[in-house]
Amino acid sequence: MITAAELRRKYIDFFKRHGHVEIKSASLVPENDPTCLFNTAGMQPLVPYLAGADHPAGTRLTDCQKCVRTGDIDDVGDPVHLTFFEMLGNWSLGDYFRKEAIEFSFEFLTSELGIPVEQLAVTVFGGDEDAPFDEEAFNTWNRLGIPAERIARLGKKDNWWGPVGDTGPCGSDTEMFYWTGPKPAPEKFDPSNKLWVEIWNDVFMQFNKTEDGRYVELSRRNVDTGMGLERVTAVLQGKASCYETEVFAGIFSALDEIRGISAPAERTPAERIIADHLRAATFIIGDGVQPGRVGAPYVLRRLIRRAIREGRKLGIEGAFTSRIAKVVIAQFGEFYQELVRNEASIVEELDREEGQFAATLDRGTKEFQKLIDRVPAFVANKVISGKNAFNLYETYGFPIELTVEMAKEQNFTVDMKGYEEALKKHQEQSRAGAEQKFKGGLADHSEATARLHSATHLMQAALRKVLGNHVEQRGSNITPERLRFDFCHPDKVTPEQLAEVERLVNEAIDRDLEITCTEMALEDAKATGAMAIFTEKYNDRVKVYRMGDVSCEICGGPHAHRTGELGHFRILKEESSSRGVRRIKAVLEERK
Ligand code: ALA
Repeated sequence: MITAAELRRKYIDFFKRHGHVEIKSASLVPENDPTCLFNTAGMQPLVPYLAGADHPAGTRLTDCQKCVRTGDIDDVGDPVHLTFFEMLGNWSLGDYFRKEAIEFSFEFLTSELGIPVEQLAVTVFGGDEDAPFDEEAFNTWNRLGIPAERIARLGKKDNWWGPVGDTGPCGSDTEMFYWTGPKPAPEKFDPSNKLWVEIWNDVFMQFNKTEDGRYVELSRRNVDTGMGLERVTAVLQGKASCYETEVFAGIFSALDEIRGISAPAERTPAERIIADHLRAATFIIGDGVQPGRVGAPYVLRRLIRRAIREGRKLGIEGAFTSRIAKVVIAQFGEFYQELVRNEASIVEELDREEGQFAATLDRGTKEFQKLIDRVPAFVANKVISGKNAFNLYETYGFPIELTVEMAKEQNFTVDMKGYEEALKKHQEQSRAGAEQKFKGGLADHSEATARLHSATHLMQAALRKVLGNHVEQRGSNITPERLRFDFCHPDKVTPEQLAEVERLVNEAIDRDLEITCTEMALEDAKATGAMAIFTEKYNDRVKVYRMGDVSCEICGGPHAHRTGELGHFRILKEESSSRGVRRIKAVLEERK
């Protein structure tokens, strides 16, 4: 019986044997991409390369990428949903295409995993007004031994992938299905039969969807594939749920130990929520996020607080989240070494968050119950007002989603409109809402962001000069309008220091330095003294961006060509981001 760790190794080794370079999982938090809170697919960190940039590791890549999908948080608890999961993938960047990709997939499934052909079926794109029937995919599968009646031809809804936002690389795909039924698989494949479970997706990225909705052929055709590690492990083990595999076994036994019970025959939704949410939280903190009020930090807070509340339901009184995190770190730390490196901060953040929430959870729960009890039983439409829901959030730290969930358990609804209004009013007052101004759409790689990205490098160099070499990036977020940069520094940066940073950056801009990019081995990059982010795991080959004698950083780009293109650099604001981390927002303006 194959375990998830074995499947991960087998997959990566297989593709390495076929000329692919193993790259490391990117951070869960997308770099410089304001449109997404977390990476949700293996291809996401590779978007610039799928759109045409050269990848330093070459044209054939493989990895296991950490992913978080937050759309389904409310469904977690059932046997299938996960917020954190791992996605195996292999990529061709203008290298092989349909035929070879399908041949690789077939060989891996049948020879490496030993799946009998009789248990496989596939879907291919059936064609529409944007692109023709994928005859090549059909013929390749058929030639390899998948009979025609096991190849379904479906439309865009099923056999087209991407773009991630409104625009970007996309194309037809072919999905592979595995028969999980007790009897032999029916000869004819019916994709709506739930006993056929999807296990892998090969996307043939051939088009760029433009802003006006057209599909324009990409200059280079790519392959993007994705296999959900936990799900496929469960399927191969004949388990109905990922929660029944060894992936969660250690977490569940730790939970049993905390509760002082022996392992039950079946896991409950509360146990699954705790296991999923704390595994996700461990990985998210491991990538440098701390619980907070907006964006990814807020999602993290929600996950932790929901897990704590479920823990209360199971009768756990004391702190337990960091004990679960330690199990996760021990289990996944070998492959994801950042977990081990950041163990201390993972434990610390969880303990702090749990301490804070536990202090108000019981009082908040009482307050909540009072609100419920105030409404007579005969009232048909039981509602918690927006103001009260906001008060639970503001005073007791109940994320709104938690209040909604608790309300639902007692047949109440929450006046969300009223809540939003109360929140908005509060945000306007505290001006915290400015964080959320992001526009939708795909990761932005415009010239404006490239210029701000270059300005970020100059600013980091200036900060180190002015404040000292302890300054290191903790986060970067760039929109076409402004840069936002988090870095470690214990104190408030004084106005004089900020003025000096501005002056140094503008001096570098005035010198119109050339911005060069060199690809090299990671060791060589470090030897040349290029700045690296310590929470980041790099691949063996990296790009190094140099701006004259001012800045030298390992970075994926994109950047401006010369510093002279940047305009005038101005700092808008300096504030605290979290303990020991400062945040600067800055803009580039027309030169005076
Ligand atoms: N990007 C494709 C997916 O997520 C492979 O299914």
